[in-house]
Amino acid sequence: MTDFPVTALRSVELGTPDLAASVDFYTRVWGLDVVAEAGGKVFLAATGEDFHVLELKQSDRAELRKVTFRVRSADDLTALFASTVAAGCAVLREVGPADAPSGGERFVIREPQGSVLEFVFGDQRREGRVVANRPYRLAHVNINSAGIEALSDFYRQTLGFRLTDRSKLMAFLCCNADHHAVVLAEAPTNGLNHVAFLMPDLESVMRGSGRVVDQGYPIGWGVGRHGPGDNVFAYFVDPQGVVAEYTAEVLQVDKDYRFRGPDEWVWPPGRTDHWGIAPPKSEACKKAQISIGFSGA
Ligand SMILES: [Fe+2]
Repeated sequence: MTDFPVTALRSVELGTPDLAASVDFYTRVWGLDVVAEAGGKVFLAATGEDFHVLELKQSDRAELRKVTFRVRSADDLTALFASTVAAGCAVLREVGPADAPSGGERFVIREPQGSVLEFVFGDQRREGRVVANRPYRLAHVNINSAGIEALSDFYRQTLGFRLTDRSKLMAFLCCNADHHAVVLAEAPTNGLNHVAFLMPDLESVMRGSGRVVDQGYPIGWGVGRHGPGDNVFAYFVDPQGVVAEYTAEVLQVDKDYRFRGPDEWVWPPGRTDHWGIAPPKSEACKKAQISIGFSGA
């Protein structure tokens, strides 16, 4: 599994009606650091190599403003731009210098179901370090879709992702050795389901979750171990109603990974995780997972 033009999910941009409250949550509570402020946005880093993993911007409502992927080469950037235009995406920024402090070349499009996607090559990296109990990088973004098969086709045919698994309600798509970088969830309307941050290990998911709970944010779902991807999870609802996940131990896959479909991804009655210990998801978490739209949509 080596021929992916997109090499990583790098960052997401969230709009928030209370920028100060969101910055406070994602630093003091969640474990990120502010690394830059520019163009009305606050850029937050995890402890890994990415310059930043989260951009926050004041907005009328909580919303997903953008998902940013890193691309393998300048040629791939040009080719992806052409293929997204051919697939009917609206061009928001042509290929050119990025305006984020991390730099590089980028283009920005809106795919047909409304999410804004940015593709970057040559962005600034830094020396990452593993810090216990703090996010290292993004793990995946989960996108609600009222037309999941069409969006799955777009990610595979236009962006070069591969479908690793398909459960009854979700499509899991990879662009590197992680079992999934993008998950598509069947939903009544398009939008953001949640953003997952990779923790260094299971212990960090547990201790990080304890820190978040101590600050007054209960676990919305978990702790448990997912089916597809086999990753450990704990879901929370941030102060503006965005669902954020701590995860770890994401299954690493290669070209020999065997795809399994909905008939094989079936839980025994009453179970929603491999361990069988995750309590039912909270109503607040369920609601939040279908409440965040795309900016401009
Ligand atoms: Fe997730």
